[in-house]
Amino acid sequence: MNKISIDNIGKYDGQRVTLSGWLVHKRSSGKIRFLVMRDGTGVAQVTLVKSEMDKDHFERYEPLTLESSVVVTGLVKKDKRAPGGHEVLASQIVVVQIAEEYPIAPKEHGVGFLLDHRHLWLRSSKQHAVLKVRHTVIRAARRFFDEQGFTALDAPILTPVACEGTTSLFETDYFEEQKAYLSQSGQLYMEAGAMAFGKVYCCGPTFRAEKSKTRRHLTEFWMIEPEVAFAGLSDIMELAESLIVTIVKEVLSANAEDLKTLERDREKLEAIKSPFESISYDKAVRILQDHGVPFEWGNDLGAADETLISDRFERPVFIHRYPVSAKPFYMKNDPEKPDVVLCMDLLASEGYGEIIGGSAREEDKDALHKKLVEAGLSPEQFSWYLDLRKYGSVPHAGFGMGIERTVAWICGVPHVREAIPFPRLIQRLYP
Ligand code: 4AD
Ligand code: MG
Repeated sequence: MNKISIDNIGKYDGQRVTLSGWLVHKRSSGKIRFLVMRDGTGVAQVTLVKSEMDKDHFERYEPLTLESSVVVTGLVKKDKRAPGGHEVLASQIVVVQIAEEYPIAPKEHGVGFLLDHRHLWLRSSKQHAVLKVRHTVIRAARRFFDEQGFTALDAPILTPVACEGTTSLFETDYFEEQKAYLSQSGQLYMEAGAMAFGKVYCCGPTFRAEKSKTRRHLTEFWMIEPEVAFAGLSDIMELAESLIVTIVKEVLSANAEDLKTLERDREKLEAIKSPFESISYDKAVRILQDHGVPFEWGNDLGAADETLISDRFERPVFIHRYPVSAKPFYMKNDPEKPDVVLCMDLLASEGYGEIIGGSAREEDKDALHKKLVEAGLSPEQFSWYLDLRKYGSVPHAGFGMGIERTVAWICGVPHVREAIPFPRLIQRLYP
């Protein structure tokens, strides 16, 4: 018996196979009955002909409800009209479970209802397609770094201090009356890793207790963060550009069907090629002001500002050298313009905004100590981090790519909540 997955059905033309899956749809016309089933890899049509199968098995069609689980055995036949170009002429049907009335009907539901049923919503074709793209994005990103000699180094989730500002920390009790915080970024640990391995990356969940209720913010999101020793801002800008080009190319080839399901305009993705444009923060401010936005030099760009700028470019665009005041303590000041830091944000095209943030790191012990104090952080707590500047300190740089923002952009879905299996938002911890 050939137990196969639906994506492979074309290889079994003329053979007897067994498919295991769930019912998507059924219909009957006289002596012929049709089941459309999915198994997570695709959708297949199963045809039941009364005269060609056991009566008992033919009758098992009757009680089947939407999402009932079934195991079907039959002959694979070419059929132009069937989804996937093949159908299965059933000889046996084994019912695993008759599903209760399924709450997600093919009609329109509100997003609150769908998020409450996220554990089931994952089965819907569009959600399934987004998460298949997510799988490719993570695989392609990890492979990109692996092939360039990076070592994957996992960062801790429970941390003693803040990395990205103290206002967005999730706090939890730790032993002996200590406090621990959920990691906002693995970066500081990757800096230690870069001094041990040269080139490292981590990929894992990160947490921000940000009170931002936007389509770009999750309280728990995934980030891939490379860190490179003996590297500067331009090196990591090249690395980030090449990473994004590689990921988009991989999705275009591996997820062609998923992009169709999502009705994604492929041309927009095919346009994502090197070189990306790069503008300074100063120039970005001028663009905003020329568009009548009352933007003051020194502030960080907001979502609307990013959208206005990235809408003007067909490809992702780098913005570099933000004011010191807008960025975290670890970024290195530009020796040629000390009121800005050697940093970059990569804004995705089509108004999606920032998907990558990175910088050169301050490598001088005294300068870093001063920055910690200015940020209101305690240098004692960062003693291990300052050690990295005592023992063979070198210029180094890195960045973080937000997985969900990248996936939302590539898929063309407006909100990051659909780009993660189980989103965590300010008002959502369920399911
Ligand atoms: O710009 P961020 O805050 O940079 C860092 O955390 C650095 N320590 C990374 C590094 O240099 N190793 O975050 C990096 C990326 C953003 O560009 C965005 O894509 C994503 O992480 N991100 C979020 N995604 C979803 N929800 C949020 N609340 C996010 N905050 C940041
Ligand atoms: Mg950022």
